[in-house]
Amino acid sequence: MAVRRLFDEAAVGGRVRDLAREVAETFPKEFTVVGLLKGSFIFVADLVRALHPLGLAPRVEFVRLSSYGGERESSGEIQLVGDVPAGIDGRQVLLVDDIVDTGHTFAFAKSLLLENGAERIVTCALVDKPSRRQADVTADLVGFTVPDVFIVGYGIDYAEQYRHLPYLGTVD
Ligand code: IMP
Ligand code: MG
Repeated sequence: MAVRRLFDEAAVGGRVRDLAREVAETFPKEFTVVGLLKGSFIFVADLVRALHPLGLAPRVEFVRLSSYGGERESSGEIQLVGDVPAGIDGRQVLLVDDIVDTGHTFAFAKSLLLENGAERIVTCALVDKPSRRQADVTADLVGFTVPDVFIVGYGIDYAEQYRHLPYLGTVD
């Protein structure tokens, strides 16, 4: 399958630094970044390093969710794999995912973190596909808004391929 390059490394890096500035405008020095696995692993790694020169010192946690369904479509039936990280209680949380599509994943993760005592949750997605939204959830901070295309690269997979690509592309 051919990957068509959509946003190159420089474009992605620039947007990640923009997002870091937006995070710094709304969070105090101490807060918690919760990344959703696996798709957000590269984004979180770059985002937290971009926060350091801005004077922020987040804790970093990850939550792994699984969604039953086809390879390209989230079923809306989301499950937690493993445990919710300890120490969410009373924390301000930046919830980070690679892509917000139907919104079911963010909706599930938000209620999970609220049940575990999060004081405030701000959602951040590198890529937003607003035309696909089903759940009543907003992506507060967004890197790139795209139409209904299938994205890969920069941590994001198609059938576990392409996560390693340093840029964002599409496959059809
Ligand atoms: P949602 O629950 O429908 O919002 O889907 C969010 C999750 O679906 C993301 O964490 C991705 O793992 C996956 N996803 C949605 N769109 C894409 C895509 O274009 N490429 C790869 N994964 C996607
Ligand atoms: Mg995902």
